[in-house]
Amino acid sequence: MGTENELKDLIIPDHVAIIMDGNGRWAKKRGLPRTFGHRQGCTVVERTVEDAARIGLKYLTVYAFSTENWKRSEDEVGALMQLFRYYMVRLLDVAVKNNVRVKMIGDRRRFPEDIIAGIDRLENDTKEATGLTFVIAVNYGGRDEIRRAAIKFAEDVKAGRREASEEFSEDDFSEYLDTAHMPYPDLLIRTSGELRLSNFLLWQLAYSEIYITDLYWPDFNRDELINAIKAYNKRNRRFGGV
Ligand code: FPP
Repeated sequence: MGTENELKDLIIPDHVAIIMDGNGRWAKKRGLPRTFGHRQGCTVVERTVEDAARIGLKYLTVYAFSTENWKRSEDEVGALMQLFRYYMVRLLDVAVKNNVRVKMIGDRRRFPEDIIAGIDRLENDTKEATGLTFVIAVNYGGRDEIRRAAIKFAEDVKAGRREASEEFSEDDFSEYLDTAHMPYPDLLIRTSGELRLSNFLLWQLAYSEIYITDLYWPDFNRDELINAIKAYNKRNRRFGGV
């Protein structure tokens, strides 16, 4: 457990995004089924939300289920759905206790009715919170998000609400993304040592700093979050300038 003192001289990024990888490998290493890794992963999500709120992040975005994850075995997808059902209720409690506003990005329409209702409730019951915004990406893919944004834009053009002209800026386009009104991530953390974006926040991560840790997601903790923030503090962000 670290002290608040170690944060004193650090610039705290506004927005941290996390690719939570390695649940399966964590379980396998222990001779357990993959779903045990996901269950432990959920516990770590809860703890990380609390840590992020206390550290003073404004936004924390996690990749919980990608548009490609449907390709996993029926058993594993079913187990993940059960975990969502169970943890959405727990998350509401964690969010309320920590003044956290929860938002989901991704195409929720593909989920079972009760999960969609749970997501709506979680967003609705926390919308007045003024602390951390916790963003969960579910049935999320960066390309799919851009595709859906393009469809929404085309609909606006067709309805005469927008003009498809050179004046239409990158900032204008970003308002059609699921992350409209959110700042872009300053820092991306990926666990379990893999060096890929895996279709996560393709538009939004354009200038984010990247921190890769070898820890599997179920082993992630506050110390490693602080290590990532310390590494971020050593980076010199130029956004394409000199
Ligand atoms: C990656 O590990 C993890 C996932 C695909 C699922 C992540 C989901 C959670 C931690 C649950 C989140 C829950 C809520 C309520 C936000 P992997 O299975 O790809 O691991 P591997 O690469 O070792 O196989």
